[in-house]
Amino acid sequence: MHKVIIANWKMQLMHNEAIQWLSAHISSLNYALEESNNRIILCPSFAELAIAAKYTANRILLGAQDCSAYERGAYTGEVSALSLHELGCTYAIIGHSERRSCGETDLCIALKAALLNKHAITPIICIGETEKERHNGETFAVLERQLADIKKLIDSGIIHTMLIAYEPVWAIGTQQLPRAIDISQVFTWLDQFLKKTINPIEYKFLYGGNVNERTIIDLGLTVIDGFLLGRASIDAEVLKKIILSC
Ligand code: PGA
Repeated sequence: MHKVIIANWKMQLMHNEAIQWLSAHISSLNYALEESNNRIILCPSFAELAIAAKYTANRILLGAQDCSAYERGAYTGEVSALSLHELGCTYAIIGHSERRSCGETDLCIALKAALLNKHAITPIICIGETEKERHNGETFAVLERQLADIKKLIDSGIIHTMLIAYEPVWAIGTQQLPRAIDISQVFTWLDQFLKKTINPIEYKFLYGGNVNERTIIDLGLTVIDGFLLGRASIDAEVLKKIILSC
């Protein structure tokens, strides 16, 4: 089974830097992807999607970092799921903790997932507990709350495909890492939770938060369908090592 590697560039590369990155590294990236049979989903800023679309290939797919919860209208600064589809995106990250911390609600994330499904884009739904929630033993309660509105839309047949990225907030951008056993327990719990939906749902489980070419060895590769990378996705050499090591 191939692994899915999400390269979430966040706002780390400016426009010209992103173009340089693409022209310098895509062919060697393709080579590493062919060797490993893995897939990469490049998620640049909105402004670089059209240019990045020219570099998509069999194993390099295009993803956005967010989308609007509305389809069309007077929503200054927002980008519609339909526009993302027209630009060639087949994936979009939603509910990243960096967006949740700006006040994005679980309902809003579920509405985004519905619009993405409507326009043939697979949502990459980020969920995960904070350090405090983990210490209080609230991890599963948090995940359940974050997925409750999504589940309702699965039950009503509106959402039918998604990737779930378990990203403990305390691991993102830090040197901390959950144990492989903890990730495996979360995935078992998620699997049971999603089996309770009325309608079938196609899903994969990814892990994100402090993944790099060294930490990936400790993460329990067998249960993880892929990885969501922040920092490691900017360094092309590290990215290639990760692609080749899983
Ligand atoms: P990191 O970020 O890989 O830099 O920890 C992950 C993320 O933000 O999803």
